[in-house]
Amino acid sequence: MNEEQKNKYYDKYLQAKQKGVKFWPDIIYKDLIVSFALFLLVIGLAAFVGVAQEPKADPFDSNYVPRPEWYFLFLFEFLKFIPGQLEWVGTTLIPGIGILILLFLPFLDRNPYRHWKKRKIGLMVMGLIVLGIVGLTVRSVVTTPEVEEVALAGSIAEQVIQGQDLYSIYCVECHQPDGEGGEVVGVEGLEGVILKPINSQDEMWTRTDETLFNVIDYGQQDLGMPPNGLGYGGELPRNEIEKIVTFMRYTWDERAEIPEEAIVGIPALTEGEAPSYEVHISMVVKRYCISCHRPGKENNEYLMGSYQEMLTTGNNADKNIIAGDLQNSYLILTLYRESILDPATGEEMIGPMPPSKDLKAEYVEMFERWILEGMPETADEAAALSSPAVEEVAPESTVTEVTPEP
Ligand code: HEC
Ligand code: HEC
Repeated sequence: MNEEQKNKYYDKYLQAKQKGVKFWPDIIYKDLIVSFALFLLVIGLAAFVGVAQEPKADPFDSNYVPRPEWYFLFLFEFLKFIPGQLEWVGTTLIPGIGILILLFLPFLDRNPYRHWKKRKIGLMVMGLIVLGIVGLTVRSVVTTPEVEEVALAGSIAEQVIQGQDLYSIYCVECHQPDGEGGEVVGVEGLEGVILKPINSQDEMWTRTDETLFNVIDYGQQDLGMPPNGLGYGGELPRNEIEKIVTFMRYTWDERAEIPEEAIVGIPALTEGEAPSYEVHISMVVKRYCISCHRPGKENNEYLMGSYQEMLTTGNNADKNIIAGDLQNSYLILTLYRESILDPATGEEMIGPMPPSKDLKAEYVEMFERWILEGMPETADEAAALSSPAVEEVAPESTVTEVTPEP
């Protein structure tokens, strides 16, 4: 730019400055256009991009790490430096002072110059503040504990397992282990009633999760299905009912895609493997026995909630499980569906177990082998008892398969 151009430009500038621009309508008009464009942008983002939703709030989920939006993170981080009882200083006083300073800045800073070299103090103060905000934000992001990666992916699997446990406790006695229904045995007021299956595709495809939730919550009291929701006098909070629904949906509904990790089952025994309480027996018990064999149910005081309980409780505690002796262990006899008579009166003392139908042969065999092996508790104990042939042959054969011939 030469001198002449410079002057010309300066004249123009002076003229424009003298003439001025009206706030209304000129400036407002410009603002209107820009804000309308922003408005369209936001609508577009909301319609076509959306916001990823977090899972439904669950007051029982202690894994959740609550954090404010990113633009408040610095304040959040700043609060961490302030002791609890002085919270108001961090949340109200200091930010309030900051805002007041901004408000009065035009009166506080009367420096007429614009060039940065003549505004060193102002720039330094602002620079420090910006640095502080960025620093605090970064610190907050870095120190946020990692939400367990599996929490989201695994939550269905977790819920299915927990839902199954709850189902075993609250539903099995009437609806049977797999929701197959049939004749109710041993339930007051419903003795002999035939229940329809609740695990059929007919049932699953015509009941939404919400319907299932309501059935469990309120029951179908006229038909004999008791209410389970806390609100109706039952024992279950909402999130537990939801878990039962999740279990039912993913276990019985063929159309519901079961996440790989959600497939729960009782591990089958391999040849020569000794079952343990930990891995096998507790799973079978959970599914087929615990609904009745827990406190508050009619069961001859036989509780099956833990290893200790299984071995030590019951009116016939000393006879229920006798290590190595299948012919005299009541537990095995009941699984064979033999009635055990009271030696004194000759009347039936213990009926077949589970009362309503045969336990699957493979699970009966699990109990048999477990008692024959002396009731190992942990997987390690069981492994020590397993016939070594299985363990040693396996790795050897894989080695020969993998190694290429020279
Ligand atoms: C005391 C016995 C009993 C218990 C315990 C029980 N139910 Fe029921 N349930 C019934 C009866 C009776 C019906 C209605 C008769 C029928 O549908 O065959 C029923 C019906 C149902 C239905 C079918 C509703 C429909 O028409 O679609 C579902 C689903 C169901 N129960 C789920 C459950 C779940 C889940 C639990 C455990 C939280 C549970 N029930 C506990 C007795 C029981
Ligand atoms: C529907 C409820 C119900 C289920 C499910 C059930 N039981 Fe029982 N169980 C009872 C009742 C009730 C008794 C008391 C004796 C009787 O009435 O026959 C009992 C008694 C027993 C006894 C005798 C306890 C003693 O000390 O006298 C054994 C052993 C037993 N059950 C084992 C099992 C096993 C193993 C399973 C699971 C495979 C199972 N039960 C499932 C209701 C049940």
